[in-house]
Amino acid sequence: MNGCGFHLWLLAIATSLVLFGSCGCVDYRLPRNVVPTFYNLTLRVFVDTDGKPASTFSGEVSIDIQALEQNVNQIRLHSDQLDIEACRLYNAKGDLLDEFENARLTHELETHQLQLTLKQALALNEQYKLQFQYKGQVRNDVSGLFSVSYAEEQTGATKWVLLTEMQAISARLVLPCFDEPAFKAKFQVHIGRPVPYNAISNTRLINTTPDGVNRFMDHFEITPIMSTYLLAIVVSEYKARGDSQKLAIYTRPEWYNYTEFSYQVAQRVQPAYDAYFGTSYEQLGNPIYQYASTPRFPYNSMENWGLVIFKDKVLLEHAGYTDGWLQKEFTIRNIVHENSHMWFGNSVTFSWWSYVWMNEGFARYLEFLIGNELYPEYQFDQQFIVSKLHSVFSTDALNVTQPMTSPESSIQTPADIKYKFGRISFAKAACIVRMWRNLMGGENFDKAMRAYLKEFHLKNASPSDLFAFLEQYWPEQPLVYLPQFFADFTEQVGYPVVRVSASLENHQITLDQERFLKSPGDGSDPKLRYTLPITFATNLQPNFKNLTPHFYYDKNADVAQLYFNDPIDWIVVNLQQSNYYRVFYDTPLLKALHKALDTTEHSAIVVENRAMIVDDLLNFAYVGKMDYADVFEFMEYMSKEGEYIPWVAAYAGMELVARRLTPQQLPNFNKYLKDITTAVFAKLGVSWSSKDKVLDVYNRNMQVAWLCKYQHTECNAQVRQRFEESTEKPTPDYRETFYCAAARVGGYERLLELYAKETFASDKQLLWRAASCTRDYQKHYKNEVLSKSRDVELKTIALAQLYQQNPDLITPIFRMIAENVTQLAESLNSWEKTAQVLSEMSEYFSSRDQQKMYTDFHEQNHQLFGSSAQILSKSLDNVKENIEWAEQRLGRLVNFLQKRNGAAGLKFEVSLLLLLSLLILLLKH
Ligand SMILES: *[C@@H]1O[C@H](CO)[C@@H](O)[C@H](O)[C@H]1NC(C)=O
Ligand SMILES: *[C@@H]1O[C@H](CO)[C@@H](O)[C@H](O)[C@H]1NC(C)=O
Ligand SMILES: *[C@@H]1O[C@H](CO)[C@@H](O)[C@H](O)[C@H]1NC(C)=O
Ligand SMILES: [Zn+2]
Repeated sequence: MNGCGFHLWLLAIATSLVLFGSCGCVDYRLPRNVVPTFYNLTLRVFVDTDGKPASTFSGEVSIDIQALEQNVNQIRLHSDQLDIEACRLYNAKGDLLDEFENARLTHELETHQLQLTLKQALALNEQYKLQFQYKGQVRNDVSGLFSVSYAEEQTGATKWVLLTEMQAISARLVLPCFDEPAFKAKFQVHIGRPVPYNAISNTRLINTTPDGVNRFMDHFEITPIMSTYLLAIVVSEYKARGDSQKLAIYTRPEWYNYTEFSYQVAQRVQPAYDAYFGTSYEQLGNPIYQYASTPRFPYNSMENWGLVIFKDKVLLEHAGYTDGWLQKEFTIRNIVHENSHMWFGNSVTFSWWSYVWMNEGFARYLEFLIGNELYPEYQFDQQFIVSKLHSVFSTDALNVTQPMTSPESSIQTPADIKYKFGRISFAKAACIVRMWRNLMGGENFDKAMRAYLKEFHLKNASPSDLFAFLEQYWPEQPLVYLPQFFADFTEQVGYPVVRVSASLENHQITLDQERFLKSPGDGSDPKLRYTLPITFATNLQPNFKNLTPHFYYDKNADVAQLYFNDPIDWIVVNLQQSNYYRVFYDTPLLKALHKALDTTEHSAIVVENRAMIVDDLLNFAYVGKMDYADVFEFMEYMSKEGEYIPWVAAYAGMELVARRLTPQQLPNFNKYLKDITTAVFAKLGVSWSSKDKVLDVYNRNMQVAWLCKYQHTECNAQVRQRFEESTEKPTPDYRETFYCAAARVGGYERLLELYAKETFASDKQLLWRAASCTRDYQKHYKNEVLSKSRDVELKTIALAQLYQQNPDLITPIFRMIAENVTQLAESLNSWEKTAQVLSEMSEYFSSRDQQKMYTDFHEQNHQLFGSSAQILSKSLDNVKENIEWAEQRLGRLVNFLQKRNGAAGLKFEVSLLLLLSLLILLLKH
């Protein structure tokens, strides 16, 4: 799976606590006394007379089972919202042994378990066939078997697709089954469908037989032994690109041309994995690999064995619209991710959902590793640092985090299972896998993985199985107690900060560790400690390549020490941020690092470590371990920084600061921003070129978005000139940024025209957002936000863009709205929405004046809002908190910015004073 929702699992854990608590009275797990070996599944789907899919399907499944214990009198398996019409037990020869009447078929709604009470116990190790006839629902949500529709482009006719999504526990919505990942079995699927639909499933089609009037039945080959969550079917009018017996992409016929790029990627990725794993995909047991796209899906993509399903936007590239670097990267990463699952997940599966990371951590890491090998122009190795490591560092420093490995017993309910599909199982696990690989050396790691995958082929594994293989190939030096090291990062939450200080005139370096917490006091345990691999480089040995640790810092030792024969100037710990921790330097070392970075070549300190230092410092400032003033002073080095990832880190950390500066303070921030972007702006400018490197494209996009928004004179002037001189469309990646910037400097009217003319849906939205960056807020508000003819969603987007893209204008914008808030409520057709819109806006208030303005507004108008007034009053508290945070944390920074800019400003003031006194003198005479 790829592209899971972070919010989803927050919600999930809350639900699980409320509904099920920790009573432990319900057993969600199936007993192990009966196991399935084969499912023979026939599904029939129907269309109603109006051409819509019927709301039910009919199913028949015969499950080969076997008892592993004596005296099994009951069989338990899963079934959810299925209407069982008949259930019979046969022996291996096919003789009917038992027919279950309703009384002997009980169904537990909470656990989705179906319990069959037998008349006679099963014989040990005998084969039986358990057969069900049933009806199930064709759903409208995106789980089990569900339908989605689309409008055919030429005719506008509504077309339907029926497809499945079984992960995690939705196979039970489609067939009675032993729906746990460890109950692996083979499947044979038969799909009955009406003309003109066709059907695909995990395996190759064997043949097609008639199945009534205008109906056919497709029979598919038997799958390899696999988990239920990997079963898939798609019934559609799709057309295949490629070889439908080997590698093909299925989408709407009219979109055939748009899958050219994804097909190329698919063709390149598979051989790369074959080589990497040393076993070909075919050898895993299923020779066919199909991709299918759908307009609606719960994730970006899902790795069903042999039939991977993607959201349309992943597989389709519309030339000139969705074929920018960013979209291509999205396609590549999803395809590379899912393909790795054929090994990590499908062939070798975790033994229970508490170990989801054993699939997803590897898939996420390989997405970057193999992606980098195949598409080096994207520099995925660098991107990993900011896009995965830094972002998961936030989650993993809060109480909402969770360990990669949860105790099996703690993951029981559907909500528990959902909860494991979060950033920790994906991004953190990817970071930890990357750390292991770099510590062992790629060759050792790859060998270990091949051996592990071979050993557990078609089986299930738990973390200890994996660790045994890592241990076997782990280098003997330096010494480390691996079980402890593995447990520290997979069973504990969080990560530490390593503090580095120099003594003995820089001959000696002392390290100690402390857990990093983003919100101390939120219930997180501050005392956790970790076994830490230590790598470093110094000015005397600026080697950033070697990721073999010098030693492992024992978690039970208070400190670790390094001794240098020759004193060092600077040291960088945690090379390439390969290991999972932050680093805090004492003041003299930080000063020395600043000096080292503040040179054109940054003293050979690599870009990954530059990004790390910037990210660490901004996070230390965020939690009050450093002052923002010192961090911003450090970041002055960035006036020589031209690379992408340090800037991603910088902007991620500066965003909150910028938002909390008052309108009076902003000009000093703008000046600072202008100064520290000197090199990068000179390098990238505002104009695009076909010769741009990928990360330069991303970087320019980010720089122009920030600089033009924060009143960078040159940025705005260059955008204006380019927009006025040329009607050439910016590349898809950059289009919104450039047009937004253009809207601020006189492009507004033309962008509204482009918006009106555009027919491609996503570009139309993009143009709307861009036009809404205009500084002529009165006009946009009056003509568009208050317009009768625009829909409400567009209006709220327009309003949000106005103040978010012009932070200096938020006060006058608010005053304009407040003058007649009833107008806005009428236009949005809801006081509740109006309250929400204002509450979101108040998130950007930063001064006591604004707070007063908002409080006054609330006092005068709250009764208009009815029950939605509470949204406003809540946001008032929020504004107060935000301002207090700023007053507490940004005081020195404000002084620093003023002082550093003062040099120039002061001269001006002094000369003005001189002039004045001269004038006065003159006047006196
Ligand atoms: C599956 O069931 C069908 C009848 O529903 C039967 O014709 C077919 O032989 C069965 N397949 C296997 C492999 O048992
Ligand atoms: C698809 O591409 C082919 C070949 O490039 C072209 O002839 C055809 O017109 C395209 N079809 C559509 C629907 O764009
Ligand atoms: C979150 O906080 C609670 C106490 O409020 C604590 O029991 C729990 O262990 C914390 N969870 C994590 C992951 O730190
Ligand atoms: Zn995945």
